[in-house]
Amino acid sequence: MNIILLGPPGAGKGTQAARLQAERGMIQLSTGDMLREARASGSPIGEKVKAIMDAGELVSDEIVTALIGERLDTCADCGAIFDGFPRTKAQAEALDLLLAERGRKLDHVIELAVDEDTLVQRITGRFSCAECGTGYHDTFKPTNVPGVCDACGSTEFVRRKDDKEETVRTRMAEYRAKTAPILPYYDERGLVRRVNGMASVDEVAAQIAAILDGET
Ligand code: AP5
Ligand code: MG
Repeated sequence: MNIILLGPPGAGKGTQAARLQAERGMIQLSTGDMLREARASGSPIGEKVKAIMDAGELVSDEIVTALIGERLDTCADCGAIFDGFPRTKAQAEALDLLLAERGRKLDHVIELAVDEDTLVQRITGRFSCAECGTGYHDTFKPTNVPGVCDACGSTEFVRRKDDKEETVRTRMAEYRAKTAPILPYYDERGLVRRVNGMASVDEVAAQIAAILDGET
């Protein structure tokens, strides 16, 4: 099964993708994570995208499409969860081609619907473990023991550079202008399923599970 998680910054794409990966053995393909890895490794692509990401703008279609293509080749039989990709009409068309070339198809485009003020609150409170990457939130998902990662026991945490309020506003504007308009592209094919992203993490996960299991 191949699915897209589509939604604005902070909608919960990464949170739900990590659950699906852990619970169903699907593979999360997050272009945001791939770009952050490229930056951390100091690769030429990483250097090229740094300023664009810090400004909250979109990286070029060519770069992200190439990253997704490479990653798809490493998981020929996996159930893929596209997280943060596609983000433009050109990327949506490129994904169709990448999948068709590999004899694969899209099963669902799951839209996480949320309101913008909640998103700012979610994003500005987000942090993750520097060691294992487990995601947390100051209010909505704190660690069980303050300052200690639940998953690996590390005491080092990081916050994303683009999680400042003014950058979040730019990321949302990019979403409204370039990404939301791809919904009709998938709607025409009857692929879009809308879930209430304002519900709790568990409730959103249950809504997604019902779709994947064909119960709704
Ligand atoms: P990317 O990393 O994809 O960021 P994003 O789309 O802005 O989304 P986020 O990762 O911020 O949010 P999310 O939906 O994953 O939410 P999360 O689960 O963390 O992209 C970053 C940048 O890379 C872009 O700005 C761009 O520059 C570049 N880029 C990436 N892909 C690109 C592409 N295809 N084309 C061009 N450029 C690209 O949740 C957020 C917080 O809320 C967490 O703290 C979480 O614990 C909490 N939370 C989650 N769900 C709930 C819930 N139901 N209730 C309460 N709290 C919740
Ligand atoms: Mg994410």
